[in-house]
Amino acid sequence: MDAPLDAAGPGPASAEDDAAGPARLWVGDARELLARIPDGSVDLICTDPPYNLAGYSTGNIDPGWRRPFNNDVAEWDLHAFDPAEWLPELRRVLRPTGNLFAFTSYNMLGPWHAAFDPAFDTFQIVVWHKTNPPPKLRRAGFLNSCELIVATWDRGHAWNFGRQRDMHNFIEAPICMGRERWKDPHHPTQKPVSVLRRLIEWGSSPGDLVLDPFMGVGSTGVAALDLGRRFVGIDVDPAYVDAARRRLAADPRR
Ligand SMILES: C[S@@+](CC[C@H](N)C(=O)[O-])C[C@H]1O[C@@H](n2cnc3c(N)ncnc32)[C@H](O)[C@@H]1O
Repeated sequence: MDAPLDAAGPGPASAEDDAAGPARLWVGDARELLARIPDGSVDLICTDPPYNLAGYSTGNIDPGWRRPFNNDVAEWDLHAFDPAEWLPELRRVLRPTGNLFAFTSYNMLGPWHAAFDPAFDTFQIVVWHKTNPPPKLRRAGFLNSCELIVATWDRGHAWNFGRQRDMHNFIEAPICMGRERWKDPHHPTQKPVSVLRRLIEWGSSPGDLVLDPFMGVGSTGVAALDLGRRFVGIDVDPAYVDAARRRLAADPRR
Protein backbone atom coordinates (compact mmCIF):
# COMPACT_ATOMS: atom_id res chain seq x y z
CA MET A 1 0.00 0.00 0.00
CA ASP A 2 1.21 3.53 -0.64
CA ALA A 3 0.01 5.18 2.56
CA PRO A 4 2.62 6.54 4.97
CA LEU A 5 3.32 3.89 7.56
CA ASP A 6 5.41 4.68 10.57
CA ALA A 7 5.51 3.11 14.00
CA ALA A 8 6.20 6.47 15.61
CA GLY A 9 3.34 8.28 13.91
CA PRO A 10 2.36 9.81 10.61
CA GLY A 11 5.14 10.50 8.15
CA PRO A 12 5.65 10.97 4.44
CA ALA A 13 4.76 8.08 2.14
CA SER A 14 7.81 6.37 0.72
CA ALA A 15 8.90 3.14 -0.91
CA GLU A 16 11.10 2.51 2.16
CA ASP A 17 7.95 2.38 4.29
CA ASP A 18 6.68 -0.60 2.38
CA ALA A 19 10.00 -2.37 2.68
CA ALA A 20 10.14 -1.86 6.44
CA GLY A 21 8.10 -4.89 7.44
CA PRO A 22 4.60 -6.28 7.64
CA ALA A 23 3.23 -3.97 10.39
CA ARG A 24 2.52 -0.24 10.42
CA LEU A 25 1.32 1.46 13.62
CA TRP A 26 -0.08 4.98 13.66
CA VAL A 27 -0.79 7.26 16.61
CA GLY A 28 -3.85 9.46 16.23
CA ASP A 29 -7.56 9.70 15.68
CA ALA A 30 -8.65 6.99 13.27
CA ARG A 31 -11.27 9.41 11.91
CA GLU A 32 -8.41 11.32 10.29
CA LEU A 33 -5.84 8.59 9.72
CA LEU A 34 -8.17 6.24 7.84
CA ALA A 35 -8.16 8.84 5.06
CA ARG A 36 -4.59 7.78 4.26
CA ILE A 37 -5.60 4.27 3.35
CA PRO A 38 -6.32 3.73 -0.35
CA ASP A 39 -9.78 2.63 -1.50
CA GLY A 40 -10.37 -1.11 -1.50
CA SER A 41 -6.92 -1.98 -0.14
CA VAL A 42 -7.81 -3.81 3.11
CA ASP A 43 -8.67 -7.52 3.09
CA LEU A 44 -9.93 -7.74 6.67
CA ILE A 45 -11.02 -5.14 9.19
CA CYS A 46 -10.73 -6.80 12.58
CA THR A 47 -11.35 -4.29 15.33
CA ASP A 48 -12.57 -3.55 18.82
CA PRO A 49 -14.05 -0.04 19.06
CA PRO A 50 -15.31 1.54 22.29
CA TYR A 51 -18.41 -0.14 23.75
CA ASN A 52 -19.86 2.98 25.42
CA LEU A 53 -20.40 1.08 28.65
CA ALA A 54 -19.46 4.02 30.86
CA GLY A 55 -23.09 5.12 31.18
CA TYR A 56 -23.99 1.76 32.72
CA SER A 57 -21.19 1.76 35.27
CA THR A 58 -21.99 1.49 38.96
CA GLY A 59 -18.39 2.43 39.71
CA ASN A 60 -15.25 0.42 40.26
CA ILE A 61 -15.36 -2.17 43.04
CA ASP A 62 -12.32 -2.51 45.29
CA PRO A 63 -12.48 -5.84 47.10
CA GLY A 64 -9.27 -5.05 48.97
CA TRP A 65 -7.58 -8.38 48.21
CA ARG A 66 -6.91 -7.68 44.52
CA ARG A 67 -6.82 -4.89 41.93
CA PRO A 68 -10.24 -3.13 41.81
CA PHE A 69 -12.81 -4.58 39.41
CA ASN A 70 -12.86 -2.06 36.58
CA ASN A 71 -16.49 -1.19 35.82
CA ASP A 72 -15.61 2.31 34.64
CA VAL A 73 -13.61 0.86 31.69
CA ALA A 74 -11.53 3.90 30.65
CA GLU A 75 -11.64 7.58 29.68
CA TRP A 76 -11.86 6.73 25.96
CA ASP A 77 -15.09 4.81 26.58
CA LEU A 78 -16.78 8.06 27.69
CA HIS A 79 -16.75 9.39 24.10
CA ALA A 80 -19.83 8.24 22.18
CA PHE A 81 -19.02 5.74 19.44
CA ASP A 82 -21.59 5.67 16.63
CA PRO A 83 -21.09 2.81 14.11
CA ALA A 84 -23.02 4.78 11.44
CA GLU A 85 -20.37 7.54 11.48
CA TRP A 86 -17.61 5.01 10.74
CA LEU A 87 -19.42 3.06 8.04
CA PRO A 88 -18.40 5.18 4.98
CA GLU A 89 -14.66 5.07 5.72
CA LEU A 90 -14.60 1.40 6.74
CA ARG A 91 -16.55 0.49 3.58
CA ARG A 92 -14.27 2.61 1.43
CA VAL A 93 -11.01 0.99 2.52
CA LEU A 94 -12.38 -2.57 2.49
CA ARG A 95 -11.80 -4.63 -0.65
CA PRO A 96 -15.07 -5.81 -2.26
CA THR A 97 -14.09 -9.37 -1.26
CA GLY A 98 -13.17 -8.27 2.26
CA ASN A 99 -14.63 -9.13 5.66
CA LEU A 100 -15.25 -7.06 8.76
CA PHE A 101 -15.24 -8.29 12.37
CA ALA A 102 -15.96 -5.83 15.18
CA PHE A 103 -16.23 -6.62 18.88
CA THR A 104 -19.20 -5.00 20.52
CA SER A 105 -21.60 -5.24 23.42
CA TYR A 106 -25.37 -5.85 23.73
CA ASN A 107 -26.01 -2.09 24.15
CA MET A 108 -24.36 -1.34 20.78
CA LEU A 109 -25.85 -4.19 18.79
CA GLY A 110 -28.87 -2.13 17.65
CA PRO A 111 -26.76 0.73 16.22
CA TRP A 112 -24.35 -1.72 14.54
CA HIS A 113 -27.22 -3.62 12.93
CA ALA A 114 -29.09 -0.48 11.86
CA ALA A 115 -26.02 0.91 10.06
CA PHE A 116 -24.19 -2.17 8.77
CA ASP A 117 -26.96 -4.64 7.87
CA PRO A 118 -28.28 -2.49 4.98
CA ALA A 119 -24.72 -1.75 3.81
CA PHE A 120 -23.51 -5.36 3.43
CA ASP A 121 -25.05 -8.51 1.95
CA THR A 122 -24.54 -10.42 5.19
CA PHE A 123 -24.64 -9.36 8.83
CA GLN A 124 -23.98 -12.09 11.39
CA ILE A 125 -22.86 -12.32 15.00
CA VAL A 126 -20.10 -14.40 16.57
CA VAL A 127 -20.23 -14.99 20.33
CA TRP A 128 -17.05 -15.22 22.37
CA HIS A 129 -17.74 -17.12 25.57
CA LYS A 130 -15.18 -16.28 28.25
CA THR A 131 -14.43 -19.36 30.30
CA ASN A 132 -13.07 -17.27 33.18
CA PRO A 133 -15.21 -14.10 33.40
CA PRO A 134 -14.82 -11.75 36.36
CA PRO A 135 -16.98 -12.90 39.30
CA LYS A 136 -20.27 -11.14 40.02
CA LEU A 137 -19.51 -9.87 43.48
CA ARG A 138 -23.08 -8.78 44.32
CA ARG A 139 -24.45 -12.09 42.98
CA ALA A 140 -27.18 -10.30 40.99
CA GLY A 141 -27.95 -11.27 37.39
CA PHE A 142 -25.51 -13.13 35.17
CA LEU A 143 -21.75 -13.01 34.94
CA ASN A 144 -20.61 -10.99 31.95
CA SER A 145 -19.27 -14.09 30.20
CA CYS A 146 -20.14 -13.38 26.55
CA GLU A 147 -18.97 -10.75 24.08
CA LEU A 148 -20.47 -10.18 20.67
CA ILE A 149 -18.56 -9.81 17.43
CA VAL A 150 -20.29 -8.26 14.41
CA ALA A 151 -19.38 -10.09 11.18
CA THR A 152 -20.21 -8.52 7.80
CA TRP A 153 -19.30 -9.11 4.14
CA ASP A 154 -20.66 -9.10 0.61
CA ARG A 155 -21.38 -12.00 -1.75
CA GLY A 156 -18.19 -13.47 -3.18
CA HIS A 157 -16.15 -12.58 -0.10
CA ALA A 158 -12.86 -14.36 0.59
CA TRP A 159 -13.57 -16.98 3.24
CA ASN A 160 -11.75 -19.94 4.73
CA PHE A 161 -14.49 -22.41 5.54
CA GLY A 162 -12.87 -25.18 7.58
CA ARG A 163 -14.47 -28.32 8.98
CA GLN A 164 -18.17 -27.90 9.79
CA ARG A 165 -17.43 -28.25 13.50
CA ASP A 166 -14.92 -25.39 13.31
CA MET A 167 -17.42 -23.00 11.73
CA HIS A 168 -19.79 -22.46 14.65
CA ASN A 169 -20.30 -18.76 15.29
CA PHE A 170 -19.15 -19.38 18.86
CA ILE A 171 -15.63 -19.14 20.26
CA GLU A 172 -14.77 -20.39 23.72
CA ALA A 173 -11.59 -18.99 25.26
CA PRO A 174 -10.35 -17.42 28.50
CA ILE A 175 -9.78 -13.69 28.91
CA CYS A 176 -6.12 -12.62 28.81
CA MET A 177 -4.20 -13.72 31.84
CA GLY A 178 -0.66 -14.21 33.06
CA ARG A 179 2.09 -13.40 30.57
CA GLU A 180 -0.33 -12.46 27.82
CA ARG A 181 -1.87 -9.66 29.92
CA TRP A 182 0.15 -6.55 29.04
CA LYS A 183 1.09 -4.52 32.13
CA ASP A 184 3.07 -1.59 30.75
CA PRO A 185 0.53 -0.02 30.36
CA HIS A 186 -2.39 -2.18 31.47
CA HIS A 187 -5.21 -2.04 28.90
CA PRO A 188 -8.63 -2.65 30.47
CA THR A 189 -10.11 -4.36 27.41
CA GLN A 190 -7.15 -6.28 25.96
CA LYS A 191 -8.49 -9.12 23.80
CA PRO A 192 -6.95 -12.61 23.72
CA VAL A 193 -4.77 -13.45 20.74
CA SER A 194 -6.41 -16.91 20.52
CA VAL A 195 -9.81 -15.31 19.72
CA LEU A 196 -8.29 -12.91 17.19
CA ARG A 197 -6.45 -15.77 15.49
CA ARG A 198 -9.76 -17.53 14.84
CA LEU A 199 -11.27 -14.41 13.26
CA ILE A 200 -8.21 -13.72 11.14
CA GLU A 201 -8.00 -17.33 9.96
CA TRP A 202 -11.65 -17.30 8.87
CA GLY A 203 -11.55 -13.96 7.13
CA SER A 204 -8.13 -13.61 5.48
CA SER A 205 -5.17 -15.46 3.95
CA PRO A 206 -1.38 -15.19 4.34
CA GLY A 207 -0.07 -11.97 2.84
CA ASP A 208 -3.45 -10.20 3.22
CA LEU A 209 -3.72 -6.78 4.84
CA VAL A 210 -5.52 -6.65 8.22
CA LEU A 211 -6.61 -3.26 9.62
CA ASP A 212 -7.46 -2.46 13.25
CA PRO A 213 -8.30 1.27 13.67
CA PHE A 214 -8.84 0.83 17.46
CA MET A 215 -5.93 -1.46 18.20
CA GLY A 216 -5.22 -0.74 21.88
CA VAL A 217 -2.02 -2.62 22.76
CA GLY A 218 -1.98 -4.34 19.37
CA SER A 219 -3.54 -7.77 20.02
CA THR A 220 -4.95 -7.95 16.47
CA GLY A 221 -1.49 -7.14 15.13
CA VAL A 222 0.10 -9.93 17.16
CA ALA A 223 -2.35 -12.49 15.77
CA ALA A 224 -2.08 -11.08 12.22
CA LEU A 225 1.73 -11.26 12.13
CA ASP A 226 1.75 -14.71 13.72
CA LEU A 227 -0.47 -15.85 10.85
CA GLY A 228 1.65 -14.25 8.12
CA ARG A 229 -0.67 -11.33 7.40
CA ARG A 230 0.31 -7.67 7.04
CA PHE A 231 -1.08 -5.23 9.59
CA VAL A 232 -2.04 -1.57 9.94
CA GLY A 233 -3.01 -0.52 13.47
CA ILE A 234 -4.21 2.85 14.79
CA ASP A 235 -4.83 4.08 18.32
CA VAL A 236 -5.36 7.56 19.65
CA ASP A 237 -3.31 6.86 22.80
CA PRO A 238 0.48 7.05 22.24
CA ALA A 239 1.16 4.81 25.26
CA TYR A 240 -0.92 2.01 23.75
CA VAL A 241 0.74 2.39 20.35
CA ASP A 242 4.16 2.28 21.98
CA ALA A 243 3.14 -0.90 23.82
CA ALA A 244 1.90 -2.41 20.55
CA ARG A 245 5.18 -1.54 18.86
CA ARG A 246 7.17 -3.25 21.62
CA ARG A 247 4.85 -6.24 21.59
CA LEU A 248 5.09 -6.73 17.84
CA ALA A 249 8.85 -6.32 17.91
CA ALA A 250 9.24 -8.94 20.64
CA ASP A 251 9.20 -11.89 18.27
CA PRO A 252 8.64 -14.82 18.75
CA ARG A 253 6.39 -14.60 21.87
CA ARG A 254 4.98 -11.12 21.34
C1 LIG B 1 -11.72 -1.60 23.21
S1 LIG B 1 -10.16 -0.87 23.08
C2 LIG B 1 -9.24 -1.95 22.02
C3 LIG B 1 -8.40 -2.96 22.77
C4 LIG B 1 -7.62 -3.90 21.87
N1 LIG B 1 -8.51 -4.84 21.23
C5 LIG B 1 -6.52 -4.67 22.62
O1 LIG B 1 -6.56 -5.92 22.64
O2 LIG B 1 -5.65 -4.02 23.19
C6 LIG B 1 -10.52 0.52 22.07
C7 LIG B 1 -9.33 1.41 21.76
O3 LIG B 1 -9.76 2.44 20.86
C8 LIG B 1 -8.97 3.58 21.09
N2 LIG B 1 -9.72 4.71 20.50
C9 LIG B 1 -10.87 5.29 20.92
N3 LIG B 1 -11.28 6.24 20.07
C10 LIG B 1 -10.36 6.26 19.05
C11 LIG B 1 -10.23 7.01 17.85
N4 LIG B 1 -11.12 7.96 17.52
N5 LIG B 1 -9.19 6.76 17.03
C12 LIG B 1 -8.27 5.81 17.35
N6 LIG B 1 -8.33 5.07 18.49
C13 LIG B 1 -9.36 5.28 19.31
C14 LIG B 1 -8.77 3.63 22.60
O4 LIG B 1 -7.61 4.33 22.97
C15 LIG B 1 -8.72 2.12 22.96
O5 LIG B 1 -7.39 1.68 23.12
